[in-house]
Parts: sequence; structure tokens; C-alpha cells
Amino acid sequence: MSRWLTTLLTCLLVQNVLAIDVNPEDETSLKNAAKTVATTMIDFYNARDSKDIPGKFDETWWEGGSMFMTLIQYWYLTGDSQFNDAIQEGMYWQKGDDNDFFPSNYSQYLGNDDQVFWGLAAMTAGELNFPEREGEPSWISLAEGVFNGQIPRWDMTACGGGLRWQIWPYQDGYNLKNAISNGGLFQLSARLALYTKNATYAEWAEKIWDWSHSTPLLRKTWVIADTTTNAANCKDHGDHQWTYNYATYISGAGYMHNYARLFPTNGTESKWLEGITGLIKTSDQFFPESGGKQIISDITCEPINKCDRNQKTFKTYFTSWLGFMSLIVPSNVTSEIMGKFKASAVAAGQQCSGGSDGKHCGIRWTKKSEWDGTIGLEQQMSVLGVLNAVLVPFAAEGPYNADNGGKSKSDPHGGSNPEGSVGPEPITTGDRVGAGILTAIFVIFWVGAISWMVVGGK
Ligand SMILES: *[C@@H]1O[C@H](CO)[C@@H](O)[C@H](O)[C@H]1NC(C)=O
Ligand SMILES: *[C@@H]1O[C@H](CO)[C@@H](O)[C@H](O)[C@H]1NC(C)=O
Ligand SMILES: *[C@@H]1O[C@H](CO)[C@@H](O)[C@H](O)[C@H]1NC(C)=O
Ligand SMILES: *[C@@H]1O[C@H](CO)[C@@H](O)[C@H](O)[C@H]1NC(C)=O
Repeated sequence: MSRWLTTLLTCLLVQNVLAIDVNPEDETSLKNAAKTVATTMIDFYNARDSKDIPGKFDETWWEGGSMFMTLIQYWYLTGDSQFNDAIQEGMYWQKGDDNDFFPSNYSQYLGNDDQVFWGLAAMTAGELNFPEREGEPSWISLAEGVFNGQIPRWDMTACGGGLRWQIWPYQDGYNLKNAISNGGLFQLSARLALYTKNATYAEWAEKIWDWSHSTPLLRKTWVIADTTTNAANCKDHGDHQWTYNYATYISGAGYMHNYARLFPTNGTESKWLEGITGLIKTSDQFFPESGGKQIISDITCEPINKCDRNQKTFKTYFTSWLGFMSLIVPSNVTSEIMGKFKASAVAAGQQCSGGSDGKHCGIRWTKKSEWDGTIGLEQQMSVLGVLNAVLVPFAAEGPYNADNGGKSKSDPHGGSNPEGSVGPEPITTGDRVGAGILTAIFVIFWVGAISWMVVGGK
């Protein structure tokens, strides 16, 4: 045997030994795995260039919100509070002058989707009674701040409604309406409805769902288009398939189903259940043959090794949002997919066999112990998401709402600035030029930019 071959075999063996073992039936095993994965994720966070700005990642802003959301779930499910200070610090630092997660440093080039992820993080904190700090706005009021900031952006100039992807006319995505922005606001509204029982949120959730359902963003066949354009009056469609688009509508519908049970005469319970079941069915595509139809994969980018950093986080949301949803919908609706999450969690642990310590995770879980050669914060987040999902059944209760133990106070006027204006503020030509350049630089890192980035996807 050549020395080269011996070395290769040794590496493979070492990798197998070093991967993270996950027993999905054992809470302690899951907690240990989650702690290892979360610790490596925070190592990346602490090593960033922009570490003097709490919650701000290098070259991306939205991922801070999604990382904190995932860590809040982790704290709730494991009781490990070692990251809580960092979570609070980052969330409050980025809350913006108007308590709506639209901080002026970045607001000139943000999309609705970027903002809503922070709103969903605050919502998660409220629903799980994550500790609040004295003198800071409540988590739920911050989530309401995002709602109040986005509703005035509902665009009636084309397609009969819908939220644009991006907020400013000089941004590339301004003329698009996309699934994650609309699905994100839908989910936020649904969760606020269940938490506060304020019917305004439920009405908006239903309105966003129904509008989406009139476009390719939420087809009657339950296939979700990523994007559609105002120019074509939302008849056209960019059809890259992404796990997180499905997840945002599915889990929002879960909260609405639970809410609708309080108002049986409205008769929408079956509507939401039908949506959840239909979308879970079309999500079968994310469990490809290569993983025995049990291991989740972002099929548009993983098989061709083209996932950008945004896309590497998408499985986090699909797994953890559906995991938490399983607590509030009939168990037979989620039992099959929760079983697949167990298989995915085991495979994800095996994929954590890279880096110098042999515990850094790759992103292609379908490859199991054959490490895909990549490491990063996003890979860690994704694995933490599926471990969270599999830990959910061990949680005694939750998500909380104002009637069953949720302590975070609602403020329906959260986020409204003193002048009462909740829409985007006017900007100067100077801002516009500066922001245009920033957009040009940053747009390639942005959530929805993905549509154009995938070469060779379907
Ligand atoms: C905005 O930028 C300034 C200057 O870099 C920084 O000190 C501050 O922390 C930033 N604020 C946020 C919310 O990121
Ligand atoms: C029930 O349906 C009516 C009519 O569609 C609507 O106005 C009302 O807000 C709904 N109630 C709740 C609590 O969602
Ligand atoms: C779940 O169970 C209910 C009641 O037995 C049934 O009507 C429904 O079709 C089931 N749903 C799924 C997705 O299996
Ligand atoms: C319900 O929410 C709406 C929209 O934010 C707000 O205007 C209204 O005051 C809220 N109602 C109650 C009873 O809090």
C-alpha cells in the first residue's frame, strides 16, 4: 500500500472517530452534541472582524438575528445559559433607534426579509420567556415593532398587494416580491396573533397568506416560487426551491391553526391544516434519494456545491421552526417529518468531522461521515437547528403566549417612533448614492440574492 493511500485511510478513520455522535432518542446525547456545536459556532462569532459591534457579522447583518434565534431555542431546550449575555447584548444593540430592528447603520440597504429574521428572533425570545433586561423594550414589543414597520410597506401598486423583497427603489430587489419576505411577515403576524390574541395580527396573517396563494409564491399545488415580479403583475416566477421558504409558510400556518381553534365559528382550522399538510408533502423534495429520503438537503445548491453563506443556514429554519410547531398542531401532522429530523440529526453529527479538532461541521449531511470540506458559522447553525428540532419533544411546554405563562409584555405600538411615522424615512440624494454603492457591494451576500447566484440549479 502506498504511503498516500495509508494516509488517506487514516484520515477517513480519524474522521469517523471524531464526528459527533448523536442518539436522537436520548436527551443527554442531544444536549451534549448541541453544546459542542454551539460552542464552535460562538468561536466563529467571537473571531469576527466586527466583534466590537455586538450582533453585527462581517458583510451580513441578517444572520445575527437568525443566530440569536437559534441560540435562544438552544437555551430553552438545554438550560445552558452561557451564551445569554451575548444574545441579549447583540439583540438590544441591533434593535435600532425605533425599536424595530432597522438600525440606521444598515437600514439603507436592508430587505424586508433581513429585518423580519430579527423580529422572529425577538418573537422566539418572548414565546420562550427568554430573560429580558431592565430598561429595555420587551421582546414582544420589538417583534411588534417589526410588524408595525413592515405593514405600511404593503404594496398595492402591482399584484393586488404583497411585500416587496427590498425596501428602497435603488435596490435591485425592489421590483420583486418574494416568498421569504411575505412568508416571514405572515409567520410573524401569526405568532403575534397567538401570543396576544389581537385579531388585527390574525387578519394580516390571513391576508398575507391569501394574497400569496393568489400568486406563484404559494401555488395551489403547494409548490413555492422564490420570487415573482411587479412588472409581470406577479404572474412570472423564479422557481429555485429552498427549504426556508416552505418552512416560513408551514410554521406560520401552524400558529394560525392553533389560533383558529379559539374561534371555531370562523371555520379556518381546516384551511390551515390543509396548507400545512400540502406544504409538508411538497417538501418531500428536500429529502432526496442520496440521503435515503430521510436526510434534509437544500437541493438547489448542495448537490452542486454552490451554497452561499445565506443558503447554508436555511435548514436551520426548516428543522427548528417545524420542530417547535409540532408542539401546537395535532401530532399526526408532524410525526413523519419529525422522524426524518432524527435521521437528519444523526447524519448532521456525522458530518461534524472536519477542521483541526475533527468536530467542525460541513453542510452536506447526506454525505454523512464523509466531511464535505467546508467549515463556518453557518454550518454550525444549521446543525444546531436540527438538534434543537429533535430536542423539542423533550420540552415540557411552550411556546408560551400571554394566556399560558408568557411574561413578555405586548405593546401594539412597539416600534412607532415619536412622530408616529412607521414607514421608511425620507432619504437624501447623498444617502442614496452611498447606499447604492453599498448595495452593489453587499447585494451578493443578501438573503434573496440567492436566486441569481445558483448556477446550474433547477
Ligand atoms: C454603527 O456604526 C458605528 C460606527 O462603526 C458603531 O460604533 C455602532 O456600534 C454601530 N451600530 C450598530 C447598531 O451596529
Ligand atoms: C373571524 O372572521 C371574521 C370574518 O371573516 C373576521 O372579521 C374576524 O376578525 C375573525 N375573528 C378572528 C378572531 O380572527
Ligand atoms: C390526523 O388525524 C386526523 C384525525 O384522526 C385525520 O383526520 C387527519 O387526516 C390526520 N392527518 C394526517 C396528516 O395524517
Ligand atoms: C391590536 O393591534 C392593533 C395593530 O397594532 C392595534 O392598533 C390595536 O390597538 C391592538 N388592540 C389591542 C386591544 O391591543
